[in-house]
Amino acid sequence: MNEINDLHLGILEDISNAETIDELEKIRITSLGKKGSITKNFKEIGKFDLLKKREYAERLNLIKKEIINLIDKKKIHLKNIDINKRLIEEKIDVSLPSKKNIIGRIHPLSRTIEEIIAIYNDMGFKIAEGPDIETDFYNFTALNIPEDHPARQEHDTFYLNPDKSGERPVLRTHTSPVQIRTMMVQDPPIRIIVPGRTYRSDHDATHSPMFHQCEGLVIGENINMGHLKGCLIDFCRAFFGIDNLPVRFRPSYFPFTEPSAEVDIGCKKTKDGLLIGEGDDWLEILGSGMVNPKVLSNCGYNPEKIQGFAFGMGIERLAMLKYNIPDLRTFYESDLRWLRHYGFLPIDIPSRHFGIN
Ligand code: DAH
Repeated sequence: MNEINDLHLGILEDISNAETIDELEKIRITSLGKKGSITKNFKEIGKFDLLKKREYAERLNLIKKEIINLIDKKKIHLKNIDINKRLIEEKIDVSLPSKKNIIGRIHPLSRTIEEIIAIYNDMGFKIAEGPDIETDFYNFTALNIPEDHPARQEHDTFYLNPDKSGERPVLRTHTSPVQIRTMMVQDPPIRIIVPGRTYRSDHDATHSPMFHQCEGLVIGENINMGHLKGCLIDFCRAFFGIDNLPVRFRPSYFPFTEPSAEVDIGCKKTKDGLLIGEGDDWLEILGSGMVNPKVLSNCGYNPEKIQGFAFGMGIERLAMLKYNIPDLRTFYESDLRWLRHYGFLPIDIPSRHFGIN
C-alpha cells in the first residue's frame, strides 16, 4: 500500500508541475495507459485475498478518478493561459489601413457577348458553335459565295497550307458557316445564335485581323420578313436600353440572303462623339436577310416549304458604340489601365468593399 501511496503522490506532483498539454498527455499514458503504472497495479489485484482485493480495488479506482479529474482541470487551465497569452501577443491594430483587395475586371468584349446572349436567350435562341478553321465549302460555297467573290481572295482571307486532298483550309471569315453546319444536321424549327471568333486580313483603328461576330439563324415554316424585323428591332432596343430607338432596314446584298437588309440605328453625330437614339443620322450596325433558297437547298431543305432569316453582327463594333470605346485595337492590348477604365466589376461585388482604383 505504501508503494501505491508514493506512486499516487508522485503522479499528483507531476500533474501540478506539467507546463504543457503534451506533458499532461504523457502523464496520462504513463499512469493510466495500457502499460501505465496504475493499470499495472490493477492487474495485480488477483494476488490478494477477497477482503483486501475489494479495499485495494476501491483505492485504485479513486486514484484513477482523481488523476483523470486533475488532468482535465489542468488542461483547461493551460488552455486558458495559452489563449490569454495569444490575446495579448496578437492584438490587432485597428488603426492600420486595410489591405487593398484588387479584383479583376470583366473585359468589355466578354460583357457584350454575355449581353447579346441574354437578350437572344430570352427570345428562345440557343447557342451554336463551329470550328475557327473552316473548309472552303462551309465558309464560302454552301453560302452561295461565288468563286470569283473578292472575299475569297488571298489578300482578304487567311488560308492555311493545303491538306492531303490539296484543299486549303481557311480561318473562317465570318460566323455564317455555322448556319450551314447546323442546317445540315438539324431539322427545323431552328433558332440559334453563334457568337465566336472570325479572321480577316485587315488592320487599322476599326479593323483587326481577329475579331468577333454573332450570327443568328431562324428556320421554320412560314417565317417571313416581319419576323426578321420584329426580332432585330427588339434586339437593338434591348441592347442599347432605349425603348423607342429608331431602327431602319436598308436594302442590301449578301450572297446567302435574298432579300438582304442592312440595319441602321438612329443617332446624332456630335463633336464629342455619338449620341445613340437621338438626332437624324443613321449608323449601320448589322447585316441580315431572308435565307437564300439556294442556301436552303444546299443544306437539303425544300425552299418551297421551309424559310428563314439570318443576321450577323460585329461584336467589337457593338461594344465600341455602347461603351464609347474609340479604338478597336485597344481591345487586344491587355493594358490593365484600359481594362480598369472600360472593364466591368462582377455584378454582385459592391465596389466600396474593395480598394478599387
Ligand atoms: N456574314 C456577314 C459578314 O461577315 C454578316 C451577315 C450578313 C450574316 C447577313 C448574315 C446575314 O447571316 O444574313 O459580313
